[in-house]
Amino acid sequence: MSSIRSISILFTFALIALASLGASPRSQDEMTPEEPAAEVDVHAEWRERLVDDGRTVILENVEGNTCLECHATIGDEWRHSTHATAWQDENYQKELKSIRRKKGCWGCHAPVDLLGIAGGGTPATRPEFRHLGVTCTTCHMGKDGAILGPKGQPNDAHESLEHHLFDAEASSELCMTCHDTTIGPVIGVAKDFAQTDLQEYGESCVGCHMPAIRRPWANDPTTGDATPMRPGRSHRMQTPRDPEFLRSAFDFAIELEAEKGVLVISNTTGHRVPGLVERELRFQVELLDADDKVKGSAEHTIDHRTFLPVEEDLRLEIEGKRGAKIRVRAWHKAPGMRSEVRFLDRVLEP
Ligand code: HEC
Ligand code: HEC
Ligand code: HEC
Ligand code: HEC
Ligand code: HEC
Repeated sequence: MSSIRSISILFTFALIALASLGASPRSQDEMTPEEPAAEVDVHAEWRERLVDDGRTVILENVEGNTCLECHATIGDEWRHSTHATAWQDENYQKELKSIRRKKGCWGCHAPVDLLGIAGGGTPATRPEFRHLGVTCTTCHMGKDGAILGPKGQPNDAHESLEHHLFDAEASSELCMTCHDTTIGPVIGVAKDFAQTDLQEYGESCVGCHMPAIRRPWANDPTTGDATPMRPGRSHRMQTPRDPEFLRSAFDFAIELEAEKGVLVISNTTGHRVPGLVERELRFQVELLDADDKVKGSAEHTIDHRTFLPVEEDLRLEIEGKRGAKIRVRAWHKAPGMRSEVRFLDRVLEP
């Protein structure tokens, strides 16, 4: 991941936030003006966490995206998402080579403005700036050039209108435009979500994949001064490339009997797991006695054929006597990854 480590960006907003939190023990007077400001990269720690699945982590070339002038912070979040890299994605470009009718693959990876057009179905392909992938205008640009968003607050820069697809309840519909189709290596996981009643309980794609945060929504294009702090949603989509997030897809329970132990793995997401051809999650479980001696073991792999359906459990039985606890370890493998990566190691006791 050397390419990832070498990236170092100055986040003005993070510096302002740190300064105002008093992270530096010195007062303003003690700061000499010549002293160079320390660089704070708010995405660095997260980037370190991502597994190397052969894909770029950040979109470098943002030519053609004029929103970033005033939305630098949200822009940095977005640049760290697979939405921004959807076109240049190495796995996508590689797969494209073997496809005869390539145009059928372009629509979701470099789409037109979704809300500016009528009708459903697969989005049409954007004629220009395809390198920007799923970009700001894809989701926010309305028919007559007005920006559509969650609040529709007036501002000096552009017309803003409130649109129902940015409500907590309805936003999943926006995501479904591209995520409910099974095509190429992609499973339309949003179809699973639509078949549940999770939405009635307030669950949404945004709720799990765009964590709630507080930060300014915009900045002055010339001075960089930030607009007021407001609640919002991180555009750095939570991804299974992040072992911590992947771990959150499962809940575990154990049952111990005289001759065996059972590990119950439940799917806590809003859809099947996994949702991509060649993505594999391998579970290795061991039945341990009170002295941590292994009494039995079992292994199970889920992939796009043997996936764990939404709202369902998987029961792994391990034969062995006098089990007192169960150790579960799990590995993740995805297209482009050189080797499997362990994302879980836990010992469960009753
Ligand atoms: C209907 C929208 C849509 C169309 C059309 C589409 N894709 Fe995708 N593609 C997606 C989505 C959504 C993802 C992300 C899925 C995921 O990560 O689980 C994706 C991700 C991918 C990936 C990346 C997998 C990875 O994470 O490494 C590849 C490769 C890919 N698509 C290939 C194709 C090919 C080839 C075609 C044409 C046959 C195609 N796509 C057409 C929506 C689409
Ligand atoms: C010249 C500066 C500027 C540019 C360029 C700009 N914006 Fe904005 N935008 C703002 C300001 C200022 C706000 C209001 C922020 C606030 O009040 O917290 C805003 C608000 C928004 C909102 C919130 C709307 C709501 O619901 O209240 C969205 C969404 C948005 N912009 C998207 C975009 C997109 C997409 C682009 C590019 C096509 C863009 N903006 C270009 C300055 C700009
Ligand atoms: C215009 C089509 C489109 C829309 C709308 C869209 N996505 Fe995506 N999304 C994609 C594509 C294409 C990819 C895969 C990019 C790649 O890996 O090459 C993707 C990737 C993702 C991933 C990352 C998967 C991974 O393997 O890392 C998540 C999570 C995601 N989208 C969630 C959402 C959510 C939540 C919404 C709604 C707010 C949404 N998407 C709206 C097309 C779309
Ligand atoms: C309750 C939380 C939750 C909800 C709701 C949810 N997801 Fe997920 N999603 C996850 C978790 C956790 C993962 C990682 C496990 C995995 O890879 O499937 C994930 C994985 C994904 C992936 C990558 C799948 C793969 O295997 O490549 C995509 C794409 C995605 N979600 C899109 C969506 C969309 C679109 C919606 C709404 C229709 C949605 N998610 C709703 C939690 C959620
Ligand atoms: C895949 C669709 C998608 C893309 C791409 C996207 N947004 Fe958003 N955006 C959303 C959704 C959904 C929300 C509302 C989240 C909520 O509050 O529930 C949102 C919210 C916002 C807001 C309000 C503040 C916040 O954080 O909620 C602003 C401003 C904004 N987006 C600007 C941008 C800019 C600038 C870009 C490009 C750098 C961009 N968006 C790209 C879907 C998208």
